[in-house]
Amino acid sequence: MNKAICPGSFDPITNGHLDIINRSARVFDEVTVGVLINPEKKALFNVDERVNLIKRVVKNIPNVKVESFSGLLIDFMKEKKIKVIVKGLRAVSDFEYEFQMSLMNKKLNPDIETVFMMSSAMNSFLSSSSVKQVAMFGGCIRGLVPEEIIPDIVKKIDEVHKNY
Ligand code: PNS
Repeated sequence: MNKAICPGSFDPITNGHLDIINRSARVFDEVTVGVLINPEKKALFNVDERVNLIKRVVKNIPNVKVESFSGLLIDFMKEKKIKVIVKGLRAVSDFEYEFQMSLMNKKLNPDIETVFMMSSAMNSFLSSSSVKQVAMFGGCIRGLVPEEIIPDIVKKIDEVHKNY
């Protein structure tokens, strides 16, 4: 079976992520969305919330599963017997960081390949942080994230605001 992983922070998942996941699911037999547990990075959603948001939006793609992981990506991939990483590239500015990461993963495990997919033009300006910023200041995030999770993002941002 041809397996791949789409790893990331997904705080929260955007239409850009979903596009890459959807397209990966057409290329590979099974796609795992790997949500990084990173205690050093302050996230808006905790990891279980992020996993659940993703599960809701990929529920109709039968060959996609969602799991969290901590530590090195290559160790998680070894455990799951996955050999391919799929990453989206939005612009030239993503290249350097992604290139560095793919070389590091290759150094850590030469059997791993990273495959890059160009993001669709309409998503090329999208990032989780810009979505959070727009939502934080009351801007419209329709069209940026899957419709069904908009209320969750608005509610979470309201809660965070109240605690300040
Ligand atoms: O959505 P992000 O934050 O750009 O995703 C980055 C991610 C999760 C793919 C990357 O940080 C990662 O793989 N982290 C796990 C730690 C690791 O394996 N590091 C070695 C490669 S530099």
